[in-house]
Amino acid sequence: MVSADTADDAAVYRLTDELALVETVDFITPVVDDPYAFGAIAAANALSDIYAMGARPVFALSIVGFPTKSLPISALGEIMRGGSDKAAEAGVSIIGGHSVDDNEPKYGLCVTGLVHPDRLVTNAGARPGDALVLTKPLGTGIITTGIDQRLVGQEAIDRIIRVMSGLNRAASQVMVFVGVNACTDVTGFGLMGHLRTMLQASHVGARINLSRVPVMPEAWDLVEAGVVPSGTHNNHRYLRDEVSWDSRVSREAQLVLCDAQTSGGLLMAVPPERLDALLQSLVKAGVVGAVIGEIVEKEAGIRVTT
Ligand code: CO
Ligand code: CO
Ligand code: CO
Repeated sequence: MVSADTADDAAVYRLTDELALVETVDFITPVVDDPYAFGAIAAANALSDIYAMGARPVFALSIVGFPTKSLPISALGEIMRGGSDKAAEAGVSIIGGHSVDDNEPKYGLCVTGLVHPDRLVTNAGARPGDALVLTKPLGTGIITTGIDQRLVGQEAIDRIIRVMSGLNRAASQVMVFVGVNACTDVTGFGLMGHLRTMLQASHVGARINLSRVPVMPEAWDLVEAGVVPSGTHNNHRYLRDEVSWDSRVSREAQLVLCDAQTSGGLLMAVPPERLDALLQSLVKAGVVGAVIGEIVEKEAGIRVTT
């Protein structure tokens, strides 16, 4: 039902008229020093692609790279414990996996999910007039780079760990219940990169309002100090000819909107008549949904205003 053609979050294979298999794999290098937190974030990040399809994850296999000669094996135990605790929170068992010796630690999951074919949410259904809703604040790439450079305090580190390790489950359940036209999760290509993929798959354009996009406050200080990961610069450069930035949208703000995220939120395209119901249900589920813009005709392209 969904292949690599539309660059969606997961592959989807119809088993019967009532059941489709949803399959995804995702692994990352450490984004924080705490190995337990890293494991939890990597698991939440991998599960997110299942949630972005409106599916229910059922089981997972782990993928592990670890430098057994240079790091204590107890750190690997903590990574795996963080991952399986997060998977358990999602109601998912990790029932196998594979590990290799590697110079740099890597951890992630191959996740299998299930969905009713009629309830599947792809990135290809956005329509002009839809509101765009984002469920997590941006800035994790910039802030984790700041953590690397010892520029971020413990309180902010704890906060960003909570954001990145937070499951997109509640947001996904609300989305399926209310009904949306399209969804993807915001990860390595940043908000603008994943938005562009959704727009291409859906043959539409979008307008984004910078002032309505939620951003973790630490990210602004860091980006103004020039702390920007290379992936974020790459995303920004890659989208140069695709996005028309209003002249009042600063270069720093452009970088924040292109910031490479780890385990970011869901980006949904919601028909206007269902927007209020979605926002109210998200609040009830403890999720902050921000309306950051709208879908427009393809000819209008991608425009970002203040
Ligand atoms: Co994804
Ligand atoms: Co992914
Ligand atoms: Co093997």
